[in-house]
Amino acid sequence: MWRLAARVLLGTKVHLVTRRLLAGAANLQCCWWRTARRTHTGYMSAGIRKVEAPDAEHLIRVQWEDGSESCYPCVWLRDNCQCPHCFLHSAKARKLLFEDLDVDIVAKEVTLTDRKKIFITWPDEHTSEYEAEWLKKRCFSEAARAEMREDLFLPEHQYWGSDLQLPKIPFEEIMYDDESAYKWLCTLKKMGVVLLTGAAARQGELVKLGHRIGFLRLTFYGLTWQVQDKADANNVAYTTGKLCFHTDYPVLQHPPGVQFLHCIKQTATGGESEIVDGFHAANKLKHQNPQAYQILTSTAVDYTDIGVDYCDFAVQGKQRIIDVDYRGQAVRINFNNATRDTVFDIPAEEVRPFYAALKEFNDLLNSTEHKFTFKLKPGDIVTFDNWRVLHGRKSYQSGSEVTRHLEGAYADWDVVMSRLRLLRKRVLNRD
Ligand code: OGA
Ligand code: ZN
Ligand code: ZN
Repeated sequence: MWRLAARVLLGTKVHLVTRRLLAGAANLQCCWWRTARRTHTGYMSAGIRKVEAPDAEHLIRVQWEDGSESCYPCVWLRDNCQCPHCFLHSAKARKLLFEDLDVDIVAKEVTLTDRKKIFITWPDEHTSEYEAEWLKKRCFSEAARAEMREDLFLPEHQYWGSDLQLPKIPFEEIMYDDESAYKWLCTLKKMGVVLLTGAAARQGELVKLGHRIGFLRLTFYGLTWQVQDKADANNVAYTTGKLCFHTDYPVLQHPPGVQFLHCIKQTATGGESEIVDGFHAANKLKHQNPQAYQILTSTAVDYTDIGVDYCDFAVQGKQRIIDVDYRGQAVRINFNNATRDTVFDIPAEEVRPFYAALKEFNDLLNSTEHKFTFKLKPGDIVTFDNWRVLHGRKSYQSGSEVTRHLEGAYADWDVVMSRLRLLRKRVLNRD
C-alpha cells in the first residue's frame, strides 16, 4: 500500500518535471483552463453596503460595496434558506418541501451584519441567514448568470476544420497528474477531441481510463469493445470496410457523449482515421441552406440495431440528424448511415427533400476544408465528443490474420463533466 502510494507520488513529481520540459510538445500552449472567475460569482470578497426590502415588492435589494446592485425574489430566498430545518448540509440538498413554500411570501424584517451577512425574519418568525459571497454568486443579473453558466457547464466551443492542431497529452500524465487530467477534460469539452499518447499497446487501458474519470458506459457491445475484422460481424465497424462520417449509437435515446478509441495494432496500409467538427459543419449548413437545416433539425429519423454481443438486442430509436437548443444552435449530431433504418416514418413527399438535405450536410462534412485525417499509432487513444465530432476510417486490406485492432469504450458527459469539476476544485483550490 505504502509502496504504491510512494510510486504514485514519485510518479506525480516526475511527470510534473517532464510536463514542464515538454510543455511545448504537449501542443496545448496557453493556460486558459486555469482562468478562475474574478468578478460576479467568485473569489473577490463581496461586501454589502446596504440591504433593503422595498414595500409592495416581493424582493430584497442588495447594494454592494463596489457600487453594483442585485435583487433577490423573496420566494427564492425563502426556498433557499440554508438553516438545518430547510437544508440538509450532508447531502447539499433542500429539505424544505415545495408544499410548504408560499410563493407570495415577503420578508417581515431584513438586517445586515458586518457587511458580510443578511438576516431575514419571515412572517411566521422563521429566520434565515445568507452570506454575502453566497448571494453574489447567485445574483440574477444576465452577466452573473452567464458567468455561472460558463463555470458550471463550460459551454464554449472552439470550431476547427482541416487546420486542426490535434491536441495531444501523454496518457501517463493524465493518469497520475490532476492538472494534466483537468487540462485533458477542458480541452475535450472545448475542442471536442484530444489524443492521449503512449498508452500500452494492449487491452485494458480504457478500463483504467474509465476508473480515472469514474466509470464507463455499458452498452450492448460491452463495457469495452474490440474493433477488428470479424467473421459474421454484428457491426459494420468490425469489417475492413471504409466507415463514412458517423456518430456512434444514435439508435439509443441517450447516445454516448464521449468516445475512446485505443489503437492496439495498426495496419500498414489504409485504416486512417477521419474526424470532422459536426457543430461547425452544421453552422455552415444553417447559413448555406436554411431550409436543409430546418429539415435536418426537425425530421425524426428511424434507427435500428439488432444482434447479439454482450447480450441479445433489438434496439429501435428515432433521432433528428441535428438536435438544436432553444436558439437553434446544434447541440448533438445523430448520424450513422449504417444503422439508419429501412423503415422511415415520414410522408412519402418529404423523403426526397430529406435525402437532399442530408446529402448537402454530408458534402460539408467531407469537404477538404472541414475534415481532418490522421493515423493512429499503437498506444494512441483518441478521445472525442461523440455528440459533436463525427468520425470515420479508411478501408484496409483484409487478411488471414488480424492486422488492425482498436479497443473502444464510451462515457457519459455527466460523468466526464463531474470529474472535470472535481479536478478543477483540486487544481485551482476552489470551494
Ligand atoms: C467504430 C469506429 C473507427 C476505426 O468502431 O465505431 O468508428 O477507426 N471505428 O475503426
Ligand atoms: Zn430555514
Ligand atoms: Zn464509430
